[in-house]
Amino acid sequence: MYADLAGKVVVITGSSTGLGRAMANRFGQEKAKVVINYFGKEEQAKEVQQEVIKAGGNAVIVHGDVTKEEDIKNLVNTAVQNFGTLDIFINNAGIENEVVSHELTLVDWDKVISTNLTGAFLGCREALKYFVEKQIRGNIINMSSVHERIPWPYFVHYAASKGGMKLMTQTLAMEYAPKGIRINNIGPGAINTPINAEKFADPKTKREVEKMIPLGYIGKPEEIANVAAWLASSESSYVTGITLFADGGMTLYPAFQAGKG
Ligand code: BGC
Repeated sequence: MYADLAGKVVVITGSSTGLGRAMANRFGQEKAKVVINYFGKEEQAKEVQQEVIKAGGNAVIVHGDVTKEEDIKNLVNTAVQNFGTLDIFINNAGIENEVVSHELTLVDWDKVISTNLTGAFLGCREALKYFVEKQIRGNIINMSSVHERIPWPYFVHYAASKGGMKLMTQTLAMEYAPKGIRINNIGPGAINTPINAEKFADPKTKREVEKMIPLGYIGKPEEIANVAAWLASSESSYVTGITLFADGGMTLYPAFQAGKG
């Protein structure tokens, strides 16, 4: 637990499920005030709201599409109207789909880029606007991936969105560091979330993926939420512009584990 997170106001996009949900729960345990953004099922968002409140935090839910400027503005406004300010903004919403690259439609390319990259930019922009105006030394966390570093065949739009996120974060971190605003990425590897449920339900695929992870297991959402809590807390006060890979070593070239090469 990080004492300074108690009472902090945090927006988490896409937090009715997956990593977003795990982070909402963690911030609830930290006694923070959470704006839970959802795009899909309202029922799920309400469940997360109850989880956060039960854990000792406070929470509101708000529907919104991260690709829409007005919806992102509304997330900041919701935080301010309900909880009086904004301290932490987490760009977590993301999508992926597998497709042979020469068959990828412009519609699908645009959909992934606009959710994962443009959506995260809009989140950064609106949070930064508020932080600058109110002179708040705010904190932004972007959910990137090991695929901001590792190429990923059949997911070219996804990999491009995360590669873009890397330099977006580094650039914004540099630009806003003089104002004391910190911006970092988290780069998860293979994590047990609904986005991956189908894939890991197949034991053969699961074993293959586990072989790509030096620590030997698929990560738990809470292990990513732990990283988010640390990056949001003052314990990481000297950290900005990084990608913290939380991937069981997936980015370490596991094919070389046997010492050949
Ligand atoms: C993707 C997962 C994938 C993992 C490792 C993540 O960014 O969302 O679907 O399992 O990267 O390849």
